[in-house]
Amino acid sequence: MPLMQFCMYFNMLFILTVGSMLAIKGGGTTIDVGQISAMLTYGMQILMSLMMLSMIYVIVTMSSESAKRIFEVLSETPTLREPEQPVMTVADGSVDFENVSFKYASDAKLFALSDINLHIRSGMTVGILGGTGSSKSTLVQLIPRLYDVTEGSVKVGGVDVRDYDIRTLRDAVAMVLQKNQLFSGTIKENLRWGDENATDEEIEEACRLAQADDFIRSFSDGYDTHIEQGGTNVSGGQKQRLCIARALLKKPKILILDDSTSAVDTHTDARIRAGFKTYIPETTKIIIAQRVASVQDADLILVMDNGRIVSSGTHDELMRSSDIYREVYDQQTNGGDEE
Ligand SMILES: Nc1ncnc2c1ncn2[C@@H]1O[C@H](COP(=O)(O)OP(=O)(O)O)[C@@H](O)[C@H]1O
Ligand SMILES: [Mg+2]
Repeated sequence: MPLMQFCMYFNMLFILTVGSMLAIKGGGTTIDVGQISAMLTYGMQILMSLMMLSMIYVIVTMSSESAKRIFEVLSETPTLREPEQPVMTVADGSVDFENVSFKYASDAKLFALSDINLHIRSGMTVGILGGTGSSKSTLVQLIPRLYDVTEGSVKVGGVDVRDYDIRTLRDAVAMVLQKNQLFSGTIKENLRWGDENATDEEIEEACRLAQADDFIRSFSDGYDTHIEQGGTNVSGGQKQRLCIARALLKKPKILILDDSTSAVDTHTDARIRAGFKTYIPETTKIIIAQRVASVQDADLILVMDNGRIVSSGTHDELMRSSDIYREVYDQQTNGGDEE
């Protein structure tokens, strides 16, 4: 670019200087002003075309480099191996972690999870609390087999997740990610990612359960409201509730909410949880939250720290046995900024 610019300005200066000198010396007989300006214009045109050529060269180089990377991704073999004789049905929503340790890369020094032993019966509600980076998300990602354990085993419905057909397993486990995603399209289209054959009634029922029905109806186009790419035209809390509704449409055996009600007010949050209790009692619900109030009434609460479950139990048990839990509870209930 600097060289290109140098050439352009040099060309301009050269034509102007030499041209004017000739014009002045010859008194307009050798060359006149019109010819100088014609020469300037032609010169610029030629240089512009050369510049285009050099741009094309740059773009071709960039594209070939990008193509290389795309092919690198396409030809990557997944580390998750499909079993020879996959199990095609998930019996129930029970989840068992047996001596599970996990690290993200095989050469990583630190384990993201260590010595996790956990037994969740089908239909239970489990809350998970812990600071950021305490591996809450890592723990739940092992259930739909987004990653394979490094040691130990994770079982769903009594069967090791590595023995399932991966589609079957992921159809049974619905997960609302911490970084949730909506696509451009109408609200209905977005929700049908959960179940493409869902009827309008089913969609509305899921939305009522996720406390999304009210605000969807307040839009002038209702369920046909257009959502921008990434859901930028709905609020954070509305986006979260749409994502929960989408997960509910899957009618999963296990429902995982990874900090999915963080932007929803406490009152609505409580209503969503109450809805889960009455309408999907069979579904195992795993709720990661920052607020103690979101997990207080769970059957089992896990407190995580540094990739380990440091204490577990019901609210009352933890209030007696866990200092961290009591501290967080006191902070959030006495003079917490949410009240
Ligand atoms: N994809 C990844 N690759 C490598 N390390 C990761 C990855 N995701 C998370 N980690 C690390 O694992 C630890 C736990 O992260 P995470 O499970 O996201 O915590 P939490 O959800 O409790 O905030 C963190 O130290 C984080 O840096
Ligand atoms: Mg997380």
